[in-house]
Amino acid sequence: MTDSVTDGPGNPFRPELEALEQNGITKLAFPRMDDPDVIPLWFGEGDMATPAFIREAAMRALDEGDTFYTHTRGRPELRTAIKHYLDALYGIDVDPDRISVPGSAMLGITIAVQMVASPGSRGLIVSPNWPNIETAFRVAGVEVDFIRQRETPGGWTLDAAEIIAAVQPETRAIFVNSPCNPTGWMMPREDQRELLAFCRERGVLLIADEVYHRTVYEARVAPSFLELAGDADPMIVVNGFSKAWAMTGWRIGWVVAPKRHAVQWALLSECFNTGATVFGQQGAIAALENGEGAIASLQQRYQENRARVIQAFSNHSEIELTAPTGAFYAFPRVPAIQSSWDFAQALLDETNVGVSPGYTFGPGNDQHFRLCFAQSERPLQSGLERILDFLDRGRHRKT
Ligand SMILES: Cc1ncc(COP(=O)(O)O)c(C=O)c1O
Repeated sequence: MTDSVTDGPGNPFRPELEALEQNGITKLAFPRMDDPDVIPLWFGEGDMATPAFIREAAMRALDEGDTFYTHTRGRPELRTAIKHYLDALYGIDVDPDRISVPGSAMLGITIAVQMVASPGSRGLIVSPNWPNIETAFRVAGVEVDFIRQRETPGGWTLDAAEIIAAVQPETRAIFVNSPCNPTGWMMPREDQRELLAFCRERGVLLIADEVYHRTVYEARVAPSFLELAGDADPMIVVNGFSKAWAMTGWRIGWVVAPKRHAVQWALLSECFNTGATVFGQQGAIAALENGEGAIASLQQRYQENRARVIQAFSNHSEIELTAPTGAFYAFPRVPAIQSSWDFAQALLDETNVGVSPGYTFGPGNDQHFRLCFAQSERPLQSGLERILDFLDRGRHRKT
């Protein structure tokens, strides 16, 4: 008797799919995800629910029976609200026909990759990187290359020229996430300009993931490719509501893509979830129109928490931390560890603190771990104390 249909020459499943591995974040977290004893610093979210005025807008929509299919690229009112938000934020004038509303930024990434995936093509990912980005390429059958940021005393850094030098003849897309999860690196404007010029000239798609655009520590907003690129450029900017408005569970994002592909976006959207949940779209409109106060107070929390993490880690001889300039993660290195998986697992087992193992953020990160500092003060502080105690006891040396 055969064990499964996957055995033998008749296996119908794609080898790329079967080669996929679970990422290190969920692999560590899922078995303990609902355990109230765990301090969860592993996922990219805090413990504060979405602001009430956003929840109320979605509840109102539900109460009014707003439960039907809508435009597959997002409701026109929401696309207009996104346009107004972007125009005011960056001093630009975006055509709302370039805007689509997938059911998450992650889905925006997936669709963007689908738009260039073809046999033999490659994607170049600026790394360290959130693991799902690599997965989105691999699911589409696209091979990936990485170009890693460098950790210097002045911060994480990477020149546009280094990215360009890593491009291969088969590279169809370059993926830049700035501000970066997990390092907090931000691509300077001049490098954005140089990279965009290269992509224009070579016909390579630039996928710019700007979901942390409002989570920055020395400015109001991070430099955006939208300030440099126009509709004719080979560029898709991905953004979303999860981070700036604390809406991770809503599953709603947006993209700005070339207008000539609006129909293709609509078609791909139908192949996935036919656009974001309709009452969620009403919440998103409220977030854009009245959300500046909420963004500012989240920013204040992240600013204070960032200082707590720097204070905790910068005076410990066993840990090296380059302070993040954006996003809400610390990505420290613990030089004495052999395996970031063993480190994160032992930390979880012995202290009930959940962090993410560095290896899952691309090559060269196996002495790192990622800690999300979006939680409120008390669990964060307690998590930091337990990590320091773990290091003081020398437990990391056995991992
Ligand atoms: C860099 C990056 N891009 C995209 C996403 C996905 O955001 P969303 O919740 O909208 O799918 C995340 C979430 O952690 C992220 O860190």
